[in-house]
Amino acid sequence: KRVCLAYSGGLDTSVILRYLINEGYTVVAYLGNVGQDEDWAAVEKKALALGAERMVIDDLQQEFLEELVFRGIQCNAIYEDRYLLGTSLARPVLARALVRTAQKYNCKILSHGCTGKGNEYVLAKTMALGAELLAGSSTGKDQAAGEGHHSCEDRSHKANNDDLPGSAFTPVSEGSRDPHGARKFLNTIKCQVRFELAWRALDPTVSIIAPWRMPKFFNRFQGRQDLLKFAAENNIPVSSSPKSPWSLDANLAHTSAESGILEKPEMVAPKDVWTKSVDPLDAPDVPTKFSVTFKAGIPVKLDVEGGETYTNSVELFKKLNEIAGANGVGRVDIVESRFIGLKSRGCYDAPAHTVLRLAHVDLEGMTVDSKVRAIMSWIGNEWSQCLYNGMYFSPERELLENSIIYSQKHVNGTVNMMVYKGAAHVLSRSAPDSNLYSEEQASMDTLEGFSPEDTSGFIAIQAIRLEKYGAAKIQHGEP
Ligand code: ARG
Ligand code: SIN
Repeated sequence: KRVCLAYSGGLDTSVILRYLINEGYTVVAYLGNVGQDEDWAAVEKKALALGAERMVIDDLQQEFLEELVFRGIQCNAIYEDRYLLGTSLARPVLARALVRTAQKYNCKILSHGCTGKGNEYVLAKTMALGAELLAGSSTGKDQAAGEGHHSCEDRSHKANNDDLPGSAFTPVSEGSRDPHGARKFLNTIKCQVRFELAWRALDPTVSIIAPWRMPKFFNRFQGRQDLLKFAAENNIPVSSSPKSPWSLDANLAHTSAESGILEKPEMVAPKDVWTKSVDPLDAPDVPTKFSVTFKAGIPVKLDVEGGETYTNSVELFKKLNEIAGANGVGRVDIVESRFIGLKSRGCYDAPAHTVLRLAHVDLEGMTVDSKVRAIMSWIGNEWSQCLYNGMYFSPERELLENSIIYSQKHVNGTVNMMVYKGAAHVLSRSAPDSNLYSEEQASMDTLEGFSPEDTSGFIAIQAIRLEKYGAAKIQHGEP
């Protein structure tokens, strides 16, 4: 019984690690480095001390940037016009690395310890809400279970039944009926949609253990107190640093904060929500200038004015985070639509990503055909939806991706920019191998192979439809 567990070193996953061991599993702990701040050595030490067979820590930064973030840049990915998808982009890379690790160390079971945070948190709330609404109705239980969690249950169910007797999944149940139930329910139903969808696509033979969906587990650990008690009994060191009043997720692309005190959208987010950028009001009084060079829509070079040149993807991105962040660029505070139909507030701090997206959009203006751009904006939107909804390992994403790559063949050139007091500006751009833009034609003085009279016919034909429409309006006396 070998499990590969997504392990963060925090209280929840440490309890789960130990709990699995106590239940007779051999645990390979896994943590992927996607650019978050972490005391890697301390995490490893802790996992081994708790009895993990091994702790695997991978540097996934380059893979994360080159395969996900830069693909997002190529299609100008954005969710609901604001969110650059920093967390959504990291999930496929982490999920894939977990599967790789499970296969390498011969684990047939994957596990994660997500608790009441993020989408899971919101999902839990929805389910609690649904449970309340359905309470008393005889079909409520089944509906809530089926609709909300179907995709996550079957396999973990299987693992649970095989390996943890008595832990068959029974959602809602008491939770929906007593007044404290909704709260309890909220703390127990957590569905790592993105991880589990990815795992199933990548290796349909693995089983999944999601302890926070197993009654045996969540009935035992009903709150932080229970976790702390278990930690004390099992020699699990607990850091004394207080829990932050919101949920955090950080990687190279962004730092995101949501839930907790941020759930009041009318409240201005506290200053320390922002960890990658300074407050624009505190930004320097002089701008910072630099240029970004793209090849096939991928950023390949950063030249900082009066500074150095960066061509390595990770170094380039980190430097740009530093420069743009120091000038207060990249903050987004939004209310977004969750996959599951609720709205939630998030604060995203994404300096480099913001700058690169703007630079890329600008370069496309010079290098991509107008109709292709219009189609690509739809494709980029679909790609963004795939990422947000955990559908990365899907046929539709592969289809979209091929179009994206094809569309970027001629997106080569350099964009000169400046960042200043919270804003990123494009100053100029050049795309020497593109023939779409012609200074001569743009000046309107000359246009070869075209005579001024041609314009009359062009207007006359374009006007046919509009004249009919205008005449009808007059006829019906419409404004
Ligand atoms: N809402 C964002 C997403 O779904 C970010 C989620 C993770 N953030 C967090 N603070 N837990 O991609
Ligand atoms: C969330 O938990 O907020 C979204 C799911 C994820 O983190 O990938």
